[in-house]
Amino acid sequence: MNEKILVTGGTGYIGSHTTVELQKAGYEVVIIDNLSNSNIEVLDGIEKITGIRPVFVKGDCTDIETLRKLFRENPGIKGIINFAASKAVGESVQKPLLYYRNNLNTLINLLECMPEYGVKGIVFSSSCTVYGEPDVNPIDETAPIKPATSPYGNTKQISEEIITDYIRSGAPIKSILLRYFNPIGAHPSACIGELPLGVPQNLVPYLTQTAAGIRKELTVFGDDYNTPDGSCIRDYIDVVDLAKAHVIAMRRMLDGEDTDSIEIFNLGTGRGLSVLELINSFERATGVKVPHKIGPRREGDIEQIWADPKKANEVLGWTAEVPVDDTMRNAWAWQCKVCGK
Ligand code: NAD
Ligand code: UFG
Repeated sequence: MNEKILVTGGTGYIGSHTTVELQKAGYEVVIIDNLSNSNIEVLDGIEKITGIRPVFVKGDCTDIETLRKLFRENPGIKGIINFAASKAVGESVQKPLLYYRNNLNTLINLLECMPEYGVKGIVFSSSCTVYGEPDVNPIDETAPIKPATSPYGNTKQISEEIITDYIRSGAPIKSILLRYFNPIGAHPSACIGELPLGVPQNLVPYLTQTAAGIRKELTVFGDDYNTPDGSCIRDYIDVVDLAKAHVIAMRRMLDGEDTDSIEIFNLGTGRGLSVLELINSFERATGVKVPHKIGPRREGDIEQIWADPKKANEVLGWTAEVPVDDTMRNAWAWQCKVCGK
């Protein structure tokens, strides 16, 4: 029988791509999502790609009785991937309690349920935001954690600590903390992708919406940074590559006999790209121009950060593979589909 995995936030951006990869690897997926930042049609997209419709529970992970009911009605869940969280950095500054309540209560409830229902492992979506502005690049997992610059970032740091403390207390579970760099792109089938609500805050959805004529022009937030072309540098990771790492992490937790109870991995390409380089990549890959101008710096932005992914490469046997131009083409195909072009 296929092992059952609970994917919280599974109709969201990264959760939907990970559901596809889990199904392709033979896992049976149960999704819980409250649809606060995604919609139910995502299930159609998943089914179109894999031919399998995941079990879906519309529910809120901050309600532990909803989770207990889910575990009772779907017996045999062996692992959890916890994507369910609120993730808008700016909004978290305005509404900190919403972020602490949603992100932390969700995690605490899941951890509490794990021993009750015999769930062995949990993969947690963390972020390179825990490193703050790095002293050196590329940055590896041993780098110091810097004070968080937003309540959202703080929920990731606190979540890592909660999981660590719980496992150190002797809880009979394992966990893998995955620190994502900048996930971008969409499934090459264009059946699923990122669906930002309102005006996108992140670079790639703003860029593709500008290319599609939905936004007038893209503003590059600053060209006076201490980088070769003056714009900020990030490690952009294709969402399908990222999704595949979750499958490997899950297999390691469930099947690995001698692995540590808690492990941390950076998920990035190991290559930094500037904002201007990314715009160039999009234009090169798609032949579509992106109207853009240079604007002031965005408050709180990190100047440059990219991953040292050696640990994930060597220990997980995972490497980011999709060339960034392909990622840009996929992002564009998805954008065209969403706006009916
Ligand atoms: P997303 O918003 O697309 O997906 C999250 C999903 O969780 C949404 O479908 C939302 O409806 C659901 N959700 C939120 N709170 C819930 C709750 N209490 N109960 C049930 N469902 C709930 O976000 P994403 O980009 O797919 O991110 C997934 C995870 O990865 C998040 O934890 C995020 O913080 C983390 N992460 C994302 C990025 C990024 O750039 N996208 C970077 C680093 C880390
Ligand atoms: N940028 C622009 N113009 C825009 C939007 C972004 O120039 O319209 C620039 C930003 O200044 C930054 C880069 O593009 O230099 C990337 O910005 P994003 O907002 O796409 O991503 P961030 O690196 O700021 O943050 C993202 C998520 C965080 C997460 C972090 C690390 O928003 O939640 O990646 O995973 F913590």
